[in-house]
Amino acid sequence: MSDAKEFINLTPGPTPVPPSVYAKLSEPVLHHRTEEFGDVYKTVEEGLRCVYRTKNKVLIVTTSGTGGMESSVANVLSPGDKAVVHSTGIFGVRYCKILRNFGIEPVVIEEEWGRAADPGRLREALKEHPGASAVFCQHTDTSTGVVNDIEALAKVVREESEALTVVDAISGLAAEELETDAWDLDVVVSASQKGLMSPPGLAFLSVSEKAWQACEKASLPRFYFDWRTMHERFLMNQTPYTPAVSLFVAQAESLRLIREEGIENVWRRTTELAEYTRGRIQQLGLELFPKDPADNLTAVRLPEGVDGKKLILDIRTKERIAIAGGQQELKGRIVRISHMGFVKKPQIDAGIAALSRHLSLTPA
Ligand SMILES: Cc1ncc(COP(=O)(O)O)c(C=O)c1O
Repeated sequence: MSDAKEFINLTPGPTPVPPSVYAKLSEPVLHHRTEEFGDVYKTVEEGLRCVYRTKNKVLIVTTSGTGGMESSVANVLSPGDKAVVHSTGIFGVRYCKILRNFGIEPVVIEEEWGRAADPGRLREALKEHPGASAVFCQHTDTSTGVVNDIEALAKVVREESEALTVVDAISGLAAEELETDAWDLDVVVSASQKGLMSPPGLAFLSVSEKAWQACEKASLPRFYFDWRTMHERFLMNQTPYTPAVSLFVAQAESLRLIREEGIENVWRRTTELAEYTRGRIQQLGLELFPKDPADNLTAVRLPEGVDGKKLILDIRTKERIAIAGGQQELKGRIVRISHMGFVKKPQIDAGIAALSRHLSLTPA
């Protein structure tokens, strides 16, 4: 018998995968032009609509979350269109990069990292730059650990413009409250490997009627990510090209688990775990990085002089616990502990205990 310690994954994606989802990955690979696959496709799409809280069609694409983000740009805009990005971290910056790659220089509202998007600033920007075709924002920015008030932001978009509201809920979906229809969100992008408890490789996009109309008129270049081609196959419970069939089968199982628990219970559980984690972190005398913390992960500011890169490497190699460090400008300065998806209190306790040992801290 092995005496190896259980590996604990507390990174904000790919997150841990439940055993019954793993089991699905070992089933024989289906052919994607069969009724069997069509049934799986339909189950996943229906499950996603339930988690997204929408009646809109949800497209399923074999790509990572960023591919979903790219497709949310390429399918709704044309050269010369105006776009606004309300950025709260690295993933807002990513939307800017995607837009620039398509030749669109966005109007950028940049919040101080750790602060949520201010709807008042969005209102000012839309007044100052009328005629925007789309506003892009993050539900939760995983790099800074903030959650944005998407309901309030979407309301401002509707009041001040004709723009589409495009939300990156790649880490927010199935972790934080999100109401696609009730909040009138046009495009919501997500991915398999975070709150949705599956391996990476699938991206999801809910598309409103207004966004479908924009898609018909849009003229940015697109091929693999063309929603029109996807839609033709969507109507047959298929994808245009060979999909990651085994990931569909796995995703169907994790959606079954989420639906069995109930999405509102998933939100509640995630919030409880987040409150617990924030409390434990503060008891250790550590400071939270975000002023507006999300419930799907906790970003912690490291004390001055701590080598954050060495810290997470030591915890991973010596304790077999993966926590994430900061990205780009935040590298070495923060650590991030995820509590979305298939993460439970004992794993959080183990992660915090390891953190306190390696930082030589004792609870207050
Ligand atoms: C909020 C957010 N947006 C976008 C992405 C990019 O997704 P992917 O790495 O799957 O391309 C991530 C991944 O961490 C994310 O958390």
